[in-house]
Amino acid sequence: MERTTETTNEIKVKWRCPSNIAIVKYWGKKDVQIPCNSSLSLTLNNSFTEVEVSLSEKTTMEAVELNYYFEGELNEKFGKRVADYLADNMEDFPYLRVSAVNINSTNSFPHSAGIASSASAFGAIALAMLDLTYILEEKEIDDEFYQKASRLARLGSGSACRSIFPAFALWGENDKVEGSSNDFAIEVETVHPIFRNMRDAILIIEDEPKKVSSTVGHGLMNEHPYAKQRFEQANKRTAELVQILKEGDFDAFIQICESEALTLHAMMMTSVDYYLLVKPGTLTAIEKLMNFRLEHLVPVCFTLDAGPNVHVLYPEKYAEQVEEFIKTELTDTYKKVIFDHEGQGPQKLNV
Ligand code: DP6
Repeated sequence: MERTTETTNEIKVKWRCPSNIAIVKYWGKKDVQIPCNSSLSLTLNNSFTEVEVSLSEKTTMEAVELNYYFEGELNEKFGKRVADYLADNMEDFPYLRVSAVNINSTNSFPHSAGIASSASAFGAIALAMLDLTYILEEKEIDDEFYQKASRLARLGSGSACRSIFPAFALWGENDKVEGSSNDFAIEVETVHPIFRNMRDAILIIEDEPKKVSSTVGHGLMNEHPYAKQRFEQANKRTAELVQILKEGDFDAFIQICESEALTLHAMMMTSVDYYLLVKPGTLTAIEKLMNFRLEHLVPVCFTLDAGPNVHVLYPEKYAEQVEEFIKTELTDTYKKVIFDHEGQGPQKLNV
């Protein structure tokens, strides 16, 4: 049955997409969102974006007519970024030629938490928009759908492509990892039980918006004096981490994870236009955590994203011990803590 504009405009979809935390970091990109090195991340569960997307009749001559609401309010700034993204990818969303699109987006984490939301937001937008294409073309959601969604998410925000897959996801061509690609992420399938349902306690050290966006930070890698060595190191570590996840070597995991966090921030501090995102609380939390590990021989480690917040990673079976430590010894370092863990990837929700 051919759909009329009227029936098209009755379609509504809703998707939830989680955030992810990189263990090996993506830092530096070229051309159209092509990473300079491969990266590998843990998909989260409790930190997610939900988008509800509906179509309506176009009222303007704009190539893309988008109304973007974030938590009930029209958000023109992010809406403009999304509209430009949709305009660049019209062939994947052909209905945009005849319909206006309305996006209502919400995050599970507080607005001021300082958690990067572009990964979960672009993940959810790509899934919902592609789902509309599939519905209109009467196609079933299959593995290819998720691969396409990952590619489309990447075009919105690089790290978003990894959020499409559960548990551990890898993005970026790596000659030691079969099936790896610069275009989309893949799931790391063989994972030892020690890494299953891994915990991530996110210590919110500061809740102000970032002073330097990740996009600007990536740009600084173009002229960076250590860029070549950094990209080689990240590719080597990605391949090593795939093995480590398979074999269950938590000590080796700790070493790569913490060094990646410090290397990411070292890159920021040594760019031609240098900058600093860590805060005193970041360093105190890291130091206390390292001492706790030494003293109690508990497998726990930290990572950082492009900001001052500390992600504390630990196996599920040490949750009680580590969480007790976080709630007693670290309280003066953070404003808030979000307890999260390995997630099963995105979900289509009922509307
Ligand atoms: C430090 O994916 O936010 O979190 O592609 O410009 O949107 P854009 O950048 P983004 O960069 C993420 C950087 C990082 C490391 C990582 O997630 O791998």
